[in-house]
Amino acid sequence: MTNLKTSSRKKVFIETYGCQMNVYDTELIKSILSKDGFEIATQELGADIVMLNTCSVRDNANRKIYNRVHEIKHANNEALIGVLGCMATNFKTDLLENSKLKIDFIAGPDSYKSLPGLIHSLKSSGEKQYDVTLSEFETYSDVYPSRQGGVNAWIAIMRGCNNFCTFCVVPYTRGRERSRDPFNVVDEVKRLVADGYKQVTLLGQNVNSYKHEQYDFTDLMKMVSDVEGVERIRYTSPHPKDFPQKLIKLMSERENICNQIHMPLQAGNDRVLHKMNRSYTKQEFLNLVDEIRNIIPDISISTDIILGFPTETEEEFLDTVDVVEKVEFDSAFIFKYSERPNTRAAQKFPDDVSEAVKKDRIIRLNDIQNTISMKKNNNLIGTTQNILIEDLKTKRSEDEVQGRTDCNRIVIVPKTNQRLGETLPVKITAATRNVLKGQ
Ligand code: SAH
Ligand code: SF4
Ligand code: F3S
Repeated sequence: MTNLKTSSRKKVFIETYGCQMNVYDTELIKSILSKDGFEIATQELGADIVMLNTCSVRDNANRKIYNRVHEIKHANNEALIGVLGCMATNFKTDLLENSKLKIDFIAGPDSYKSLPGLIHSLKSSGEKQYDVTLSEFETYSDVYPSRQGGVNAWIAIMRGCNNFCTFCVVPYTRGRERSRDPFNVVDEVKRLVADGYKQVTLLGQNVNSYKHEQYDFTDLMKMVSDVEGVERIRYTSPHPKDFPQKLIKLMSERENICNQIHMPLQAGNDRVLHKMNRSYTKQEFLNLVDEIRNIIPDISISTDIILGFPTETEEEFLDTVDVVEKVEFDSAFIFKYSERPNTRAAQKFPDDVSEAVKKDRIIRLNDIQNTISMKKNNNLIGTTQNILIEDLKTKRSEDEVQGRTDCNRIVIVPKTNQRLGETLPVKITAATRNVLKGQ
């Protein structure tokens, strides 16, 4: 246990891992802590309290955190360390009882409002503190996140997940699904526009199951799209099992809803999909993509895929390859199956596809997808795209600016007098697999 000699120490540094929902949650946490008099530090050095907002979705996410805790303690033995997020709910006992891990407090995704209280109790009692209770109601709709600034803002419209895909830990780490009042979301969007944000992304584990009183996700999208001044709206992620046709229609009608969908496939074989509890078949997924492309021909579709799910055979893997080749996703995040504690798959299906086979499949599928992504980007050379300028520099250069097309491709342009947040027509002149260059 850390020695709390100076109990007024209130400088907090927060490090975020995992998905966009966690990035958003960190913005909520910063807002909650600032209101309580904590100071948010921009670097670990000199911070009194270090919080790690963690992810638990794959194994390597965990290991990274254990290493980080040791590293932080080594550099600053006095710092209090808190573990937040999905690992907090998923590995509570291990985090608290493992004497090698010097963790002072943990808080799960529904307990961020109790963080100031936890830290005060920790300081007064010197005892480790935790709160990992999952709530059926908490949506943080009364907290306005402390955002980074810039052009893009994310808004969680719902929390939790009720789908229980057998591989997935999220329903256990984030609890039951609950949706925010649509009018409350619209108010936040109006405030974002007033604050200068140009693009909002609505977040949820499965946005299609958004439901608040009589309002469903399409109703919410319509309401957000009606807010004056929102230039671009995106959302992530929809589940293929319940993608409503009226949403596709709305997307095609509304100028400010981007022509882009991230729709996780996970697998292309019916037996594997069934074992994953995904409730659609290969053919249903392909039909859905056709339906979407019939209405919005130039839509960009990206996906998530898991390889080496328990008992997946070579032939079944080839079904996934077949879907990838037929659909030609614009991009794909491809993961090796990683057994997660508490999930149905971990309880019922031994992780029996060898690491070597998983590795081989991921290399083969990545090669195929890379060729597709490259081809799709090459097809854009010579076209003119409207680019929303998101950054007045790039990772590599101060002489270039970076923006995004409506269909979510990154475009790099030489710097002239562009302004942050303006949308400009850009002629695409070159392409790599991940970025476009333009003039
Ligand atoms: N429904 C969520 C999914 C969140 S998890 C959403 O789209 O917002 C993100 C991705 O991680 C999943 O789509 C899945 O492809 C991958 N994933 C989840 N659990 C996994 C596991 N046990 N092993 C490997 N990949 C996994
Ligand atoms: Fe996000 Fe899932 Fe990771 Fe939690 S476990 S941070 S919900 S990706
Ligand atoms: Fe996970 Fe499936 Fe929900 S991937 S977050 S259980 S939709």
